[in-house]
Amino acid sequence: MPTIWTVTNLKPGTAKTTSAVWIAHGLHEAGHKVLLIGADPGGAKLKLAPELSDGMGSTERWNARARMPFEVISLATRDLHRTVPRLAADHDYVVIDSPPIEDHQGIAVSALRVADLAVIPVAPTTAEIDRMAPVLAVVEEVDALRAEPLPTCVLLNRCVTNAASTGEADRVLTAQGHRVLAARIPRLELFAQSHGAPVLAAGTAYEAATAELLALQAQGRA
Ligand SMILES: Nc1ncnc2c1ncn2[C@@H]1O[C@H](COP(=O)(O)OP(=O)(O)OP(=O)(O)O)[C@@H](O)[C@H]1O
Ligand SMILES: [Mg+2]
Repeated sequence: MPTIWTVTNLKPGTAKTTSAVWIAHGLHEAGHKVLLIGADPGGAKLKLAPELSDGMGSTERWNARARMPFEVISLATRDLHRTVPRLAADHDYVVIDSPPIEDHQGIAVSALRVADLAVIPVAPTTAEIDRMAPVLAVVEEVDALRAEPLPTCVLLNRCVTNAASTGEADRVLTAQGHRVLAARIPRLELFAQSHGAPVLAAGTAYEAATAELLALQAQGRA
């Protein structure tokens, strides 16, 4: 059985796709057989300019421009909880790039139903921290549909180097009972410009985040 991680959040633009793709590369570079699933319906970002839409989701578009060294599929459906375990039977890890919960709740919830772990990328800003409550409310509802409660963790993301906001966000989220990864993803052009480009996670904060997630997953199994 594959281990399934969903990268999820309430809102668009919270680094879900960036994190899912970089973590999938981190897993691949650590020697695991990875399946990356783009579960955000195609062209969502182009609703103001539909004539420019290529019908692809962001993960699919990224993979079309720079072939990823593992399998990537688009599957923006509400029955991920039924299809993914079967589809990914030969893989070690599945990473799901979830759509924003508020835009596509059915798809995001089906990913939460099947996942072994939810990774929530959060920027150290008041607005994003405040949105953790509605995300967890959805996770709690989904727990009623699962055999076991879904473990979640926060990946602090788009952190300005040496800014006090990162530590402050860590303290606030930890005090609220969230599990905050020690690895922090800095706000960098390297990540901002990576959509559509080849990725090497080694040596970046995503390598550290992936190692931490693997350790967390191993603890959960123990
Ligand atoms: N660590 C980072 N540093 C700088 N920019 C970043 C970082 N992570 C993500 N970004 C940028 O933030 C924007 C949003 O990221 P991304 O597309 O991954 O978010 P998303 O949550 O998948 O959005 P959507 O819900 O619209 O699909 C992108 O322009 C991306 O390049
Ligand atoms: Mg996205």
